[in-house]
Amino acid sequence: MMIFRFLPLFWAFSVKADFFQFETISNVSTYYFNYIYCNIWEGDCQPHQEDATQKVPSRDLLSTLPQDCMRSLVEWYCALGQCCDTGDCRIINNITGLARDLELRLHGQHLAQSVVLKAIEGFLKSPDPNKPLTLSFHGWSGTGKNFVARLIAENLYRDGLKSECVTLFIAPFHFPHARLVDVYKSQLKEAIRDSVVRCHQALFIFDEAEKLHPGLIDAIKPFVDHYDNVDGVSYRKTLFLFLSNIGGAVISEVALDFWHSGQNREDIGMEDLEHQLRSEALESQGGFAQSQLMSGHLIDFFVPFLPLEYRHVKLCARDAYMARGLRPSEETLDDVARAMLYLPKEEKLFSAQGCKSIPQRINFFLP
Ligand SMILES: *[C@@H]1O[C@H](CO)[C@@H](O)[C@H](O)[C@H]1NC(C)=O
Ligand SMILES: *[C@@H]1O[C@H](CO)[C@@H](O)[C@H](O)[C@H]1NC(C)=O
Repeated sequence: MMIFRFLPLFWAFSVKADFFQFETISNVSTYYFNYIYCNIWEGDCQPHQEDATQKVPSRDLLSTLPQDCMRSLVEWYCALGQCCDTGDCRIINNITGLARDLELRLHGQHLAQSVVLKAIEGFLKSPDPNKPLTLSFHGWSGTGKNFVARLIAENLYRDGLKSECVTLFIAPFHFPHARLVDVYKSQLKEAIRDSVVRCHQALFIFDEAEKLHPGLIDAIKPFVDHYDNVDGVSYRKTLFLFLSNIGGAVISEVALDFWHSGQNREDIGMEDLEHQLRSEALESQGGFAQSQLMSGHLIDFFVPFLPLEYRHVKLCARDAYMARGLRPSEETLDDVARAMLYLPKEEKLFSAQGCKSIPQRINFFLP
């Protein structure tokens, strides 16, 4: 994953980058980022992510390269074996794999499963998309938004979240101070541009997007709009994912109504949610909601994540045990699922934390 890992490139190519400011800001978040990466994204925990920086050429090497950065970068990647006869071997676009993962590894999210697959498949199959793909994931925490983002990264890129084509921004950690919004704006623009120059099918994930300052989202608007190119770079093959808890309440209400009226959760359709989700997203407070992205209709798909029930938590627990090579009994799975808190008070239907940190929780239930 690219997480301000492009520092050396800034040194070499970006005359404008104010490096010292940049360093301070990235320092602030390094600790938290690692924490989040390990605990929420459940990535391989590498305390310093050192291996990542090794993939980037050293400062000295870069300073000897000619000014034509595009060409030198292409040559550099090819020299490292990143170019295949078929194109760019960092990109695998395994739609079969994505379909399979969404079906087998994601639980209780029939809408997200179908919308995400259709959206991504359609986008990747289009030879000349007229704009980047922007998906907005909505729902309470623990419902699988991060997980789906990870499945997308893993099936579209050989190196998954660690791919240099993939950049993750976690709003409160990368852009914590409202007063620095102008600094963040130029960094964010540079980061996006830099990544797209290096990888023609880049993926950007904005986690906790509801906490993004409006100015920050508006800074990336030109990239997601219908332009042929922005300053000579085309962004039309780029994918943007925005993950937020906006609309979580609306989604739960609909799911609860279905349950009360004895209807199947699987019969909840997009038509039951999309309109309300859009209006909720427009009305709610915060950067993402108020940004031009929403008002400018630049989000292609709203993807609702339903609150998870007891039976889904059991499936998550089963997966977590299986991942450790264990075959848990039904009773064990019930024990794990029973340990979660369920809402609302009366119905006790939805897991308040969804499937969040189930892999850590099963530690308490190991024999
Ligand atoms: C950032 O972190 C590095 C290493 O931890 C440290 O040497 C450096 O002084 C820090 N920079 C700032 C501006 O805090
Ligand atoms: C795509 O994913 C499927 C299922 O995970 C896997 O069997 C297949 O080998 C993958 N194909 C490529 C080209 O990676």
